[in-house]
Amino acid sequence: MPVMQWTEQLSVKIDSIDNEHKKLIELINKLFDAMSRREGHNVLDTILKELTDYTEFHFHHEEEALEKYNYPGIAAHKKEHESFVNKIEDTKKKYEEGAIMLTIPLVDFLTTWIKEHILKSDMGYSPFLVKAGMK
Ligand SMILES: [Fe+2]
Ligand SMILES: [Fe+2]
Repeated sequence: MPVMQWTEQLSVKIDSIDNEHKKLIELINKLFDAMSRREGHNVLDTILKELTDYTEFHFHHEEEALEKYNYPGIAAHKKEHESFVNKIEDTKKKYEEGAIMLTIPLVDFLTTWIKEHILKSDMGYSPFLVKAGMK
């Protein structure tokens, strides 16, 4: 069973962004599945890297749109992204060095963070970007 599922409740009414959120959720599920199957270090590391890269790609895309349309809450939004990127980059680095294990609380953190961020912060720009014509 997936650890997290995209539902209509998470829709920001912008297809390109919804699709990226779906992909992020898919990657968290992929990580969780691989952990459940007790995959080895190399497999987990590859998925973690994929998740990190895709997160950065998605945040970049969002920030570009927020900048383009002069969203007033951009600074705070960027800060939230930055703290998440730091956390996930740090986790990846420590895992690669063999300093930590990947644990269920980490997956909990990822799912909770993504969900809360979409519901509280991404939802905040939704009407603004929809009005600006973003698809
Ligand atoms: Fe987002
Ligand atoms: Fe965001």
